Amino acid sequence: MNYQNHQIREKILIVDYGSQVTKLIARRVRELGAFSEIINPLRLERIKDIKIYKGIILSGGPSTVVNSPQKKIPKILINAKIPILGICYGLQLLAITFGGKVITKKTLREFGKAEVKKKNNSLLTRNFFDDNASSVWMSHQDAVSHIPRNFNLVGSTKNSKFTIIENKNKKYYGVQFHPEVTHTKKGKILLKNFIYLICNLKKKWRISSQKNVLINKIKNIVKNENKVICALSGGVDSSVTAILVHKAIKSKLKCIMVDTGLMRKNEFKKSFRLFKKKYKLNVSIIKASSLFLKKLKNVHDPEKKRKIIGQLFIKIFESEAKKIKNVKYLAQGTLYPDIIESKSVTGSITSKIKSHHNVGGLPKKMNLELIEPLKDFFKDEVRKLGKSLGVSDEILNKHPFPGPGLAIRIPGKITKEKIKIVQEADEIFINNLIDKNYYKKIWQAYAALLPVRTVGVMGDSRTFEYICLLRAVISDDGMTADSFFFPKKFLDDISNKIVNNVKGVNRVVYDITTKPPSTIELE
Ligand code: XMP
Repeated sequence: MNYQNHQIREKILIVDYGSQVTKLIARRVRELGAFSEIINPLRLERIKDIKIYKGIILSGGPSTVVNSPQKKIPKILINAKIPILGICYGLQLLAITFGGKVITKKTLREFGKAEVKKKNNSLLTRNFFDDNASSVWMSHQDAVSHIPRNFNLVGSTKNSKFTIIENKNKKYYGVQFHPEVTHTKKGKILLKNFIYLICNLKKKWRISSQKNVLINKIKNIVKNENKVICALSGGVDSSVTAILVHKAIKSKLKCIMVDTGLMRKNEFKKSFRLFKKKYKLNVSIIKASSLFLKKLKNVHDPEKKRKIIGQLFIKIFESEAKKIKNVKYLAQGTLYPDIIESKSVTGSITSKIKSHHNVGGLPKKMNLELIEPLKDFFKDEVRKLGKSLGVSDEILNKHPFPGPGLAIRIPGKITKEKIKIVQEADEIFINNLIDKNYYKKIWQAYAALLPVRTVGVMGDSRTFEYICLLRAVISDDGMTADSFFFPKKFLDDISNKIVNNVKGVNRVVYDITTKPPSTIELE
């Protein structure tokens, strides 16, 4: 895997020591207009030219440097003579590397809000303090007890004297708190000072400036008669990928939409028309809904469902790809968070909750070379890139939709009738969200069908029908989520509309669980 984007000259390297919020550091840096790349410290040796970075940020992490004098900042980073900002564990690593001391003591622990008091001036903290104090967010057990020689104290909290330290000559800085989280009130100012005052980055980076770079890159890769195929779902990532690749190589791109029958109502046809008419893509639909339904018959187990759908999708896509002459490349909408390998740093293997099937997750044995133009970017950046390519809001503002589609929103056995019920209820829910201006405020919303029938009364008759579950969440990246708050009136109306218009449903419930402990999808 290529870890460095050589096209972008001015950037910040983030060394990931396993913090839960490393991705946030990268996002904040980019929001401030500087390109950032995350790297696992075990892979630092792969960097051919460390000098392409203007600054280094060492993240927090679950490790401790206490009684581990061998833990030091890797030599490659020190020898580079580039400014360094250590955050939390990064600060402790900085201290220990240059001869300071870190200890662990119950009284030094700080979790949550704390107040840093200014002790000395520093470029890092310009405009960071109000009345010589600033509110920050802490999460640490160990603390620096002695700073190395040539380091100065800049700020302290009640528990942790060396909360901000600096070595002005070497441009090494350390903070015990997390400037990347929004709870640190002026965290962004501190990061901005590091990037622009200390690392001296000159130009602001914008995703839209990458448009032509990316198009030219694709043009240079795909030469002569060679063709590219792309599995198009109609979601943001695969759509922006296809439209970008199409701008570069026009009809040499062939897009395939596999209709699993598990999409939202009318969505496939609508997307197909848009791609064909508006974006002039060379796209075809492969109708496979009966095949999917047949393979899913009587399957209850969520993991089995996911595997069947994933494998069938690949089989169909592979066989269609074989029919196209001169195909050498596969374009995929892989995003930056998909390739960050932060978890392996701590040696912990995260337990598998669900096996994700992504339309992009096609097997390597297809023997096609990958084109992944979005692999350096976050979702919000992809939306901006899409905008600069003229992709419509209809596509860019779409909520995420899972690869296995409605199958994982119908717990238990899947039937044609149940798919129809979910599609009808979902359409009513989503249209109402759009009408009432909720859609854009929500990260993801959907209707699902619970495999339970309950008694109801309609007119004078008894009914015995399914329960429709509605879910609407707010989230940053899908890793955690909160249920969206609707006024009772909206919920009353939507429940009425669904029960009155969707045959087979006589009860509507709204899911108010957060993730964790729940997940966004039901299966
Ligand atoms: P969970 O249910 O794990 O979902 O909280 C988090 C986000 O991931 C989406 N999701 C998937 N996306 N293939 C995908 O492309 C999948 O198999 C898949 N499963 C869940 C889910 O919709 C939510 O946005």
